[in-house]
Amino acid sequence: MKDASPATAPETIYLKDYTPFGYDIESVHLTFHLAPEATRVLSKIRFAPKADATDATFFLHGEELKLISAKIDGQEVSPTLVEGGLKCDVPSAPFTWEAEVEINPAGNTALEGLYMSNGMYCTQCEAEGFRKITYYPDRPDVMSTFTVRIEGDASVMLSNGNPMGKGEGWAEWHDPWPKPAYLFALVAGDLVNHPGQFTTKSGKEVELNIWVRPGDEDKCAFGMEALKKSMKWDEDVYGLEYDLELFNIVAVDDFNMGAMENKGLNIFNSSCVLASPETSTDANFERIEAIIAHEYFHNWTGNRITCRDWFQLCLKEGLTVFRDAQFTADMRSEPVKRIEDVIALRARQFPEDNGPLAHPPRPEQFQEINNFYTATVYEKGAEVIGMLKRLVGDDNYYKALKLYFERHDGQACTIEDWLKVFEDATGRDLSQFKLWYSEAGTPRLKVSEDYADGTYTLTFEQSTPPTPGQPQKAPRVIPVAVGLLSPNGDEVRGTEVLELTEARQSFTFEGLAAKPVPSILREFSAPVILERETTNAERAFLLAHDTDPFNRWEAGNALAKEVRVAMVVDGATPDAAYLDALEKLVRDDDQDPAFRALVLSPPSQADIAQTLAERGHTPDPQKIYDAAETFAQTLAQQLETSLPRLYAATTVDGPYRPDAESAGKRALNGRILSLLTRLDGGEQAARQYATADNMTQQYTALSCLMKAEKADAQSQAFFDQWQHDRLVMDKWFALQIACASPENAAATAAALTRHPLFDMKNPNRFRAVFGALAGNHAGFHHASGDGYVLLADNLIALDKLNPQTTARMCAAFQTWKRYDTARQERIREQLLRIAGTDGLSRDTNEMVSRILDA
Ligand code: PHE
Ligand code: ZN
Repeated sequence: MKDASPATAPETIYLKDYTPFGYDIESVHLTFHLAPEATRVLSKIRFAPKADATDATFFLHGEELKLISAKIDGQEVSPTLVEGGLKCDVPSAPFTWEAEVEINPAGNTALEGLYMSNGMYCTQCEAEGFRKITYYPDRPDVMSTFTVRIEGDASVMLSNGNPMGKGEGWAEWHDPWPKPAYLFALVAGDLVNHPGQFTTKSGKEVELNIWVRPGDEDKCAFGMEALKKSMKWDEDVYGLEYDLELFNIVAVDDFNMGAMENKGLNIFNSSCVLASPETSTDANFERIEAIIAHEYFHNWTGNRITCRDWFQLCLKEGLTVFRDAQFTADMRSEPVKRIEDVIALRARQFPEDNGPLAHPPRPEQFQEINNFYTATVYEKGAEVIGMLKRLVGDDNYYKALKLYFERHDGQACTIEDWLKVFEDATGRDLSQFKLWYSEAGTPRLKVSEDYADGTYTLTFEQSTPPTPGQPQKAPRVIPVAVGLLSPNGDEVRGTEVLELTEARQSFTFEGLAAKPVPSILREFSAPVILERETTNAERAFLLAHDTDPFNRWEAGNALAKEVRVAMVVDGATPDAAYLDALEKLVRDDDQDPAFRALVLSPPSQADIAQTLAERGHTPDPQKIYDAAETFAQTLAQQLETSLPRLYAATTVDGPYRPDAESAGKRALNGRILSLLTRLDGGEQAARQYATADNMTQQYTALSCLMKAEKADAQSQAFFDQWQHDRLVMDKWFALQIACASPENAAATAAALTRHPLFDMKNPNRFRAVFGALAGNHAGFHHASGDGYVLLADNLIALDKLNPQTTARMCAAFQTWKRYDTARQERIREQLLRIAGTDGLSRDTNEMVSRILDA
């Protein structure tokens, strides 16, 4: 047994130290005798020493395993148990390794390896969970075929690949595709399935199933449709076909992440697959569709071509996020998806990239790989691919992807392999572009302009602030999509991609009759921070006239931020011109409702704090909150006479449908209801709550009422109606904290941790409470410091049960250096308290030390 906590300073793993494993694996046979507290796992693995091995050490990873016996070619052997695994003397010719171990799934609260969730067995092996199932070279570059026999009393017993047979108390599976251990999966439980069927473009029939707990079968239809759409889309757009007879999805309630792409047996957090109009919001439906697509797309980008080592994680994640974003854009609205993604990037990745946790999309070192499933690896990793596509053009992009699949199918690859494919397919030199993978930090792009004699010049200066371990930054390749508008609002130059490669660089446009208004970084063509001196009048002009929908939204967003910054810094009143522009837009029925809803959504208070910090101010969370309230109240008053009519006009009647168009209308309707609630004391929201027949409208009404502190009756009614449904209860927990006033947020969260339905062991419930607390900017950062203490108390408690989720939640503290010294001191005290906890996990220890090192 290995102690979970490091006795000495934790070891750091470096990319530069990569060495291949000295053995090939020809086949793996696993037999599971399932029992909640004492599952026996028998492994039979055929190893062959590599002729060219640089290191012939036979080391197998293993953690929290009780070794019962080990044999080589049928003879008992006595391996040496070492930190993190075992070593053994082995023959220099091919041999068969057999081991029997005992593990305790019921006692596994870390939710890594084989564990139990509501009486059902399931596994999570990425990144390094397989070593908690049996001794094995648990690294992604070791691939093999797996044959699995499961013995137990569950009615459904699943593993990867195709079924080989089953009988009373047993089932056998074989996966013909060699895979790394992190893609292994096993599920056993009394589950029911929602079946489906797909015929691939070459005519192969694939059986599809979504497996759920009895009672959830009416929440699978949407996920099944999303799966079929994903399969079709990957064929149509990338030419990629599914490669097994069967594709299974299983929903589990206790899961650390969103979902997992195990070969042929995807395992989903139930929140990311179960959907029904009564229990899921529009946002849930969109997210579920995207995650089903994401995991399905991994079948090629992740599974057929995997990662050589975990430093290459963005090879599969960045590309798969990029692909799922393309899919969502195709299924729904391209500009809306882009705007949503940029909002999320700025909310999650920018703070990371500009704080103590900054790391490149391909990190060069880690202590605990679980801490690197980050917004940088996923979302910035996808942005980097978006830039690459923009630079080489669509045709070249698909040509390179085709070459990637031809050249690397069945391999475990690196970022170098990936870039080489693009270089070979396009003849381009990508050595400078590669900096995007190796350097952390968000580049700043300063823009200045000049106009004389019909020639317009844009000058860009790029610089990237220092990040941990990377004080100096070289100029990067930055694709800047630019269009020009004439002062009357016509577009005089369509979008053109300027390729910035130097620290300072100018581009000229000839033959312009008047000084144009530039629209820069259209579609958010690069993940940078644009710094440009401009006026609110010009922003309002772009909000009205830009032909690029992203930049139209961006102009409104920049304006919204300026107005709030002026309110916070100078005590200004809400800008009248901006209020007029919003009023005009909200009434403009020619504009897409989803777009109008986005423009009407205020920038997050955390975003304002970040903007203030960037400009050298110390953000005061309470003042930012007050400015947001004043602004919303003023806007509501300005729209007062038209709100009831607008509300009625945007209400979606008829049976609920989750499509993008109706969702966009409901989003706009929800924005209007929130303004209306500021004026009518919650009358309309109460009516909507009482009549809603779908969760989107019910939830929107409830949140308006909670924000207005008028929800006592509805909150109780909601609880009574939904207490049996875990996923809806997560909403109920989160919403109360999200809507609490700054002074009540911590107390509300604290009270909810004492609620009988609060369950620390369930990551969704823990995140509902503490994600909502951290997301309530002024509440979490309330001057009392109560939010900090409450989060720290609970992180310390959770770390003993579930290090992975604890470590991820530590990121709530990553922006601490932005705030005033009193707040910094309070946060530091809590970080030190966590760091000083006895037996702290490697995961949490790494996160807290990195944050403290700021
Ligand atoms: N690989 C999963 C995904 O992105 C995420 C994941 C990582 C899930 C680690 C569980 C554990 O699709
Ligand atoms: Zn993924």
